[in-house]
Amino acid sequence: MISAEKIPNNVNLSSNKRLQRALEHWQPKYIQWWRDMGPQGFQDYHQVYVRTAVSVDPSGWAHFEYVKLPEYRWGIFLADPLPDRRIGFGDFYGQPVWHEVPGEFRNQLRRLIVTQGDTEPASVEQQRWLGHRCPSLYDLRNLFQVNVEEGRHLWAMVYLLHSYFGRDGRDEAEELLDRQSGNRDKPRILEAFNEPIDNWLDFFMFTMFTDRDGKSQLMSLSESSLDPLSRTTRFMLTEEAHHMFVGETGVSRILQRTCELMREAGFSEDVRKVGGIDIPTIQKHLNQWFSLSLDLHGGEVSSNAASYFANGLKGRAKEETFDEHIVKDAYYRMEFFEGGRPLTKDVLMRNAMNEVLRDWYVSDCAAGVERWNRILEHAGVSERLRLPDRKFNRNIGMYSGFYFDPHGVAMSKEEWEKRRNEWLPCAADREYLLSIMAEPVYRPGTFANYIAPPRRGINQKPVDFEYVRTEQ
Ligand SMILES: [Fe+2]
Ligand SMILES: [Fe+2]
Repeated sequence: MISAEKIPNNVNLSSNKRLQRALEHWQPKYIQWWRDMGPQGFQDYHQVYVRTAVSVDPSGWAHFEYVKLPEYRWGIFLADPLPDRRIGFGDFYGQPVWHEVPGEFRNQLRRLIVTQGDTEPASVEQQRWLGHRCPSLYDLRNLFQVNVEEGRHLWAMVYLLHSYFGRDGRDEAEELLDRQSGNRDKPRILEAFNEPIDNWLDFFMFTMFTDRDGKSQLMSLSESSLDPLSRTTRFMLTEEAHHMFVGETGVSRILQRTCELMREAGFSEDVRKVGGIDIPTIQKHLNQWFSLSLDLHGGEVSSNAASYFANGLKGRAKEETFDEHIVKDAYYRMEFFEGGRPLTKDVLMRNAMNEVLRDWYVSDCAAGVERWNRILEHAGVSERLRLPDRKFNRNIGMYSGFYFDPHGVAMSKEEWEKRRNEWLPCAADREYLLSIMAEPVYRPGTFANYIAPPRRGINQKPVDFEYVRTEQ
């Protein structure tokens, strides 16, 4: 069971007084950050029906109760250790896993943990104004659930920094609260985490595609030879699943409502006239967040990725499903873009690890888009959503600096600029979305016109349950 200390944990924190003191010192700074940069306007007078971990076994970690957001019990939870766990890939394959950080990999591991850690508070910052435009109390609750868990993911990374990286780790933990999403002078590390998310279509696409990048990164880190990192990320994955559920079902419900409105208005009419979100607008937001999230996987050919793999720091998603785990002289066939045309080349697979993980990510996204298309099919609508080609709208890797349409056809910069608004959200789209989201919907069981109710509520509560309530 998780202890009832100041910082809930299952790592026997009270037995390490120095670490406990360091984290208790960081805690008030975290709470101050949460108040300043977390959900604005919902800190003091609202109680939210959220899930909190009370133990890490499958039955015990999903405990629901009303809490005021700043009183959420953020803590440190690691998945149970696996007996006699061995290193699963790279040059040290088969050796026992590490319980301390090897000196020679200290910098690389710190960099991996800081980069992951930085995304967690960043997304809370990006989403902090969304509550004022919520489509329902059910959705408001889901937003806050995602936010408090991203806060907990920050705790997870800060625990590792404080425990294993000494002074440097403590400094990094301070800086994680210091950088700010979108801030010109001290932005968050990765680009997708500096984009504002001020409407709910962006939010659902973000949780569908960008949280899914979180999933692929966490899966590859859960393979790590550093056992505490593996156990931490394994528990984070259980929370991550809910974030993607929020994104996927959010878009599903918008699609369902769009189909209903199209049917009512007559299929040839513009669904915006009746307050819905048209499919081309949905496609543009999909294009935006999918391409930004592809960038998060890093360059296609990367010596860093090779070194992370060789050293056993970061593996492939589901490493156990591969036949061979050392991958010393295996090759990977991939597409390049050289001299203005695509060509296929073989590269050492270790150097292509980012692309291997991206492959896994793309197929996981594609399955989700399939499920969305079934809603359209079922409603008798002929349009379909699709993932853009992976060359489209890239700012990292070999395709950055070149221009491709969503089908992957190369074009000039001028042509791209001319057609950009057909493929990516433009000012008019944002204005329209904000106009239909201007009024928040706070009445239990009521939903904004552009989104269908969910099929069921949270934790077997009815859909019209008061998921967020103001204090009496
Ligand atoms: Fe997270
Ligand atoms: Fe997440």
